[in-house]
Amino acid sequence: MEKRLDKHKFENLDKESLVDWLKERDHDLIQLLHQKAYEVKVANIGNKVFLRGLIELSNKCVKNCLYCGIRCANTSVDRYELTDEQVFEAADFALYSRYGSLVLQAGERVDSAFRKRVTSLVKEIKRRTDNRLGITLSLGEQPEEVYREWFDAGAHRYLLRIESSNPDIYSKIHPNDSLHSFDTRLNSLEALKRIGYQTGTGVMIGLPGQTEENLADDLLFFKSFGVHMVGMGPYLKHSDTPLGQISSGTSSMEMPLKMISLLRLLMPKINIASTTALQVIDPFGREMGIMAGANIIMPNMTISEVRTNYQIYENKPGVKDDATVSKSKLEQNLSSKGIEIGWDEWGDSRAFKEKHEVNL
Ligand code: 5AD
Ligand code: SF4
Repeated sequence: MEKRLDKHKFENLDKESLVDWLKERDHDLIQLLHQKAYEVKVANIGNKVFLRGLIELSNKCVKNCLYCGIRCANTSVDRYELTDEQVFEAADFALYSRYGSLVLQAGERVDSAFRKRVTSLVKEIKRRTDNRLGITLSLGEQPEEVYREWFDAGAHRYLLRIESSNPDIYSKIHPNDSLHSFDTRLNSLEALKRIGYQTGTGVMIGLPGQTEENLADDLLFFKSFGVHMVGMGPYLKHSDTPLGQISSGTSSMEMPLKMISLLRLLMPKINIASTTALQVIDPFGREMGIMAGANIIMPNMTISEVRTNYQIYENKPGVKDDATVSKSKLEQNLSSKGIEIGWDEWGDSRAFKEKHEVNL
């Protein structure tokens, strides 16, 4: 196994060797892969985990993705929007909790009221926290000028998952209309990078019909696009969705963890999130993701009153908890595994920082 990894020099794993690894069934070899990825992480970016407190601003969404529980056609969801005060309280919580960064996430909306609201929320969070919190946005596809306005307001990272880098799979898991276009998704990612955001993307793992070859292509897509951050997680069933009615979702940690390790070997300096979806499969899923090479965790800070309404998939963990409970559970879990946290640090992607410094 060591020979096999050495042969490919980690950063140049080709498609064939990625597929081999994704098909590997030998438990010991897989453990060695995770260990190697962990070593590569520590050697390149250190062993700390950085936190981004997650604020689920609103579950209103104009889209109708076939897998997602808050798709607009799901009428059994109570739609909410946090008030400014609730958002600021969450931002204050992130500051006092020394999280270093927060993520503002919502379903997609492109109306100008929403655009303006986000601009003013970002500005106000920056002002009241004295620029001590890094702000990541995860608000879907937007016109380039909107991305620019939010960047100028002070957001400096943006997450927009490609969901699958394969256009055929993409078209099978989205409605067949112009609102759900693979090309628009790709163009949006390019715009984000052009503007200067630390740009994050990701895929779902275990989608119906998805092969190991497709997943290897996803990894190679991240590399060729030059992303700074990746968040990948298992595809999970939601019964109130068209995809959830025909598929059972992913129930094994094996493939998501292998994807994390292989990505760490391919891209040693990027930020890789250990996603909440991993925690659905195993209560220690996020910690396992960290041990496999990830370095980011996004503790949920959304007030408990609305958490149940942001169920993109079933059995989302911690929906009854509030921000304080989520925080103490996470700290307990991480410290029980000896994982160190980068308190009060923005935890920017080393891959982004180095590129940026060279360009100065
Ligand atoms: N299972 C797993 N992940 C999902 N997402 C949406 N629905 C599901 C699901 N059923 C993820 C998508 C999206 C992000 C907000 O949540 O990747 O980009
Ligand atoms: Fe909306 Fe995102 Fe869910 Fe699609 S995945 S329906 S864009 S919240």
